[in-house]
Amino acid sequence: MRVALREAFEARFGDRPRIYRAPGRVNLIGEHTDYNGGFVMPAAIEFATWAAVGERNDRSLVMYSENFGETAEFDLDHHGPRPRRHWSDYALGVAVMLERAGIELRGANLLIRSTVPVGAGLSSSAALEVAVSWALAPEPIDLTGRAKLCQRAEHEFAGVLCGIMDQFVACHARAGNALMLDCRSLEYQHVPVPRGLKIVIANSMVRHELASGEYNRRREQCAEAAVYFGKSLREVTEADLTRAKLPDPILRRARHVVTENARVLKAAAALDRGDLRALGELMYDSHRSLRDDFQVSCAELDTLVEIARGVEGVYGSRMTGGGFGGCTVSLVAEDRVDALRAAIKAGYPKAEVYVSDATGAAGPADL
Ligand code: GLA
Repeated sequence: MRVALREAFEARFGDRPRIYRAPGRVNLIGEHTDYNGGFVMPAAIEFATWAAVGERNDRSLVMYSENFGETAEFDLDHHGPRPRRHWSDYALGVAVMLERAGIELRGANLLIRSTVPVGAGLSSSAALEVAVSWALAPEPIDLTGRAKLCQRAEHEFAGVLCGIMDQFVACHARAGNALMLDCRSLEYQHVPVPRGLKIVIANSMVRHELASGEYNRRREQCAEAAVYFGKSLREVTEADLTRAKLPDPILRRARHVVTENARVLKAAAALDRGDLRALGELMYDSHRSLRDDFQVSCAELDTLVEIARGVEGVYGSRMTGGGFGGCTVSLVAEDRVDALRAAIKAGYPKAEVYVSDATGAAGPADL
């Protein structure tokens, strides 16, 4: 058992901290739709990042990451160019964005602890950004504003042109619920996860090199399709797709986004009427579309989905997050979780399997 975060902070910095938590997330359906103004349905998970914070009398940020065993220090008035591809980019980025939004910061000591696996597509970066934003600015900022500010930090300081899904769900999640979000209007609804249903996450333990470069490339391809259609992919219909004269990869990218948006709406309706079979089929369809049209899956993720499909009591399974490795998500009857775990261990021994309920949003915490 590790020492409590509060005590670890006191030992390192000599005063009593305030503590904030922000969750990782898994996306049930609606992949690569957020930056196209579409629909997503993520849920916050039990893995989270905690930030313990104490004030300083200068304008320095001193951050220690327990996971990396490393301290990073910045002067808020003089910091170098980003991105440096370092965990501290995200935290410094948030500080800079808060100041840009007119929130004047004091210096701070931060101690960061995270249980979100890094590079697994479970939003360890959004959890870090949102936890740090609470630590540096706990006074109520509107939650959507907080999510947007953290997204900007990731764009400018980490160089990943991510959508709003991860930061939004970290800020707005409700325990026991998934979050159905319209990324165009940012209107959202909490959708209860039915009792007796478990979220099982299988980590392929691979992360292909191309991940962030290919992510930005997919964004550009979607933008190219949107220019062709003269409207956002959110507005494009299946009939538009049939008539379109676009080169193959661009057309496929657009087709994924258009059909995926339709699937999220159907998934929300299926959840609403408790039709888990229909929901599960939509997850398998989503995976196929990500594999064949958006081309962001990989052999390891395909294998994990096929294993899950063969287990009775699994309603649906798909890759989750940006792709090129990372995790699959399966919705499973509670009493069949062990059977799924055993099948994964047998068919893909190097996977790690996590079982989670949907958890709540970021905020003050104790640890
Ligand atoms: C990453 C991004 C999200 C989203 C997903 C794909 O997780 O951070 O904004 O685009 O990929 O759905």
